[in-house]
Amino acid sequence: MKAAVIYKGKYGSTAQYAKWIAEALYLSVLDIDKEVADHLGEYDLLIIGSPVYFGNLLLKHWLSKNKNLLLKRSIKLFVVCGSAGNQQAQDNIIRQNLHVDLAKSCEVHFLPGRVDMSKLSWFDRLMIKAAALMQKDRQKRYMMMRGYDAVKREHVNPLIKSALHYANTEKIV
Ligand SMILES: Cc1cc2nc3c(=O)[nH]c(=O)nc-3n(C[C@H](O)[C@H](O)[C@H](O)COP(=O)(O)O)c2cc1C
Repeated sequence: MKAAVIYKGKYGSTAQYAKWIAEALYLSVLDIDKEVADHLGEYDLLIIGSPVYFGNLLLKHWLSKNKNLLLKRSIKLFVVCGSAGNQQAQDNIIRQNLHVDLAKSCEVHFLPGRVDMSKLSWFDRLMIKAAALMQKDRQKRYMMMRGYDAVKREHVNPLIKSALHYANTEKIV
């Protein structure tokens, strides 16, 4: 049995979670653009990470393109976003980004992300400020204007526990 962590991120929070998960489980982190395309079929368990931008997973098209292969593997998907913990927002993200079969077959973990205004591209900063202006909830508006950092090592514990359970039953090497 083989397992690996793969992800695509933009500003580092998804990369940080991928690193913590890989370290805890002694797994390699694969480059989604290079190694993965040809070797996806070799893995029994794939722990896949993606942030959400404007309602879309950064890996939305990749997940769709590789759907048939992914359906034959065990998938744990970690979604890094600003709306982790908001059930309705989480349901919307799943509905808008995952094919129904994939949504049913993979385990999804929502992890709280980070927005560091000083690191955002001009376009992303503009868009997040525009979205903040439309936000009615004062606290959320403030958070969106100032940025936030909710990335914590402890958030990956449930995913690690679930992967360890899988490893114990399936004997990952
Ligand atoms: C321009 C922009 C748009 C975003 N759009 C969403 C969104 O639609 N829904 C959400 O839950 N989080 C959204 N986020 C929050 C990101 O998912 C979060 O910052 C995440 O940690 C980014 O991951 P990364 O650092 O790996 O790129 C957005 C962040 C930015 C900067």
